[in-house]
Amino acid sequence: MEKIRVGLGERAYEILIGSGVRNLAAAPDGVRRMVVTDSNVAAFCGEWLNTLAVADRFVFPAGEASKKIDTVVDICRRAAALNFDRSSRFLAVGGGVTGDMAGFAAAIFMRGIAFEQIPTTLLAMVDSSVGGKTGVDIPEGKNLIGAFHQPRRVLIDPDFLRTLPQKEIRCGLAEIVKTAVLFDEKLFAELERDPVSLLNPGADMSRYAAIIRRCCELKAEVVARDEREAGIRALLNYGHTFGHAVELLSGFSISHGEAVAIGMTAAAEVAVRRGRWNRADAERQKALLAALGLPCAVPQEFDNERIIKAMEHDKKNLAGKITLVLPRRFGEAEVMRGVPVPEIVAALEAVHA
Ligand SMILES: NC(=O)c1ccc[n+]([C@@H]2O[C@H](COP(=O)([O-])OP(=O)(O)OC[C@H]3O[C@@H](n4cnc5c(N)ncnc54)[C@H](O)[C@@H]3O)[C@@H](O)[C@H]2O)c1
Ligand SMILES: [Zn+2]
Repeated sequence: MEKIRVGLGERAYEILIGSGVRNLAAAPDGVRRMVVTDSNVAAFCGEWLNTLAVADRFVFPAGEASKKIDTVVDICRRAAALNFDRSSRFLAVGGGVTGDMAGFAAAIFMRGIAFEQIPTTLLAMVDSSVGGKTGVDIPEGKNLIGAFHQPRRVLIDPDFLRTLPQKEIRCGLAEIVKTAVLFDEKLFAELERDPVSLLNPGADMSRYAAIIRRCCELKAEVVARDEREAGIRALLNYGHTFGHAVELLSGFSISHGEAVAIGMTAAAEVAVRRGRWNRADAERQKALLAALGLPCAVPQEFDNERIIKAMEHDKKNLAGKITLVLPRRFGEAEVMRGVPVPEIVAALEAVHA
């Protein structure tokens, strides 16, 4: 078992990674707890969930559509009906949707109770379960309601990946490539070594555990340095300004991970055209994404004007100026505010299908 500490003073916590780590949640510790999970995870992991000594299990229908305030209210009402108090705890068992929502419920129930993250998707293991961003969607936009609320601990058991559909594995891999480009060329090279086998986690779980550990280490460091995204944490939005636009315009038929892959390719193109990143490295990024079965081209039917409009609405922009994260070399990137629209159009032209 590997241990990583997220150094946040009195809010510090540990990330425990390893096969079987999920069983640390089984030990009754005198604290009243409620599992929050979705319908798929309840089915796939039902047997294990039954072993947990908890007061109750809150199961919601799987999918982003459930990530809304009504579900959070239902979680809080269930906790109230169970007479939960400020020493009680939520266990988020699932993907990013579960973690974001259970975390937000924990942030606001009785003005804040503890919660633990037990991620079951690759994306949640390498990204969303660490860092304390919690929240829900509203029709006006994703994650527009939320709070920073750090978990009490994170238990990452890579064995959960055995049942995860390949489409979801790919989504997580897109974020892993993002992390590698931003912070760690060695990790990037490790992914390049045999990308195809990464699509099947069961083939080499120990390799997977090592990759997850490295991503958590890097994210923990970023979060410890910049919990509230005043600086370096903003780099994690690499590929996401283009990505969110593509996701939105596709009516969410293009998944988040696929959209981020397209977004990183477009952002890389901007960086290369500005003379900030070299073409050869951008091509390496593209080749790795392609080997992982991720798309790298903006679909033909999306016209540039609509993409730009959607990008101008991105919530990470300030005063409507488009903000992009641009790589400088593997392991180094910068946040660029007010990237001129013609530059973005030129890059989009170059990466259109
Ligand atoms: N808080 C953050 O810092 C942060 C960061 C990135 C993304 N997010 C959020 O995370 C969400 C996306 O997370 P996600 O991709 O994990 O989505 P998700 O939680 O919807 O999970 C994806 C699918 O996999 C299923 N699933 C989960 N574990 C499984 C398992 N072990 N076996 C089989 N099926 C399983 C789920 O039921 C769901 O259908 C978005 O809402 C996004 O906004 C948050
Ligand atoms: Zn993302």
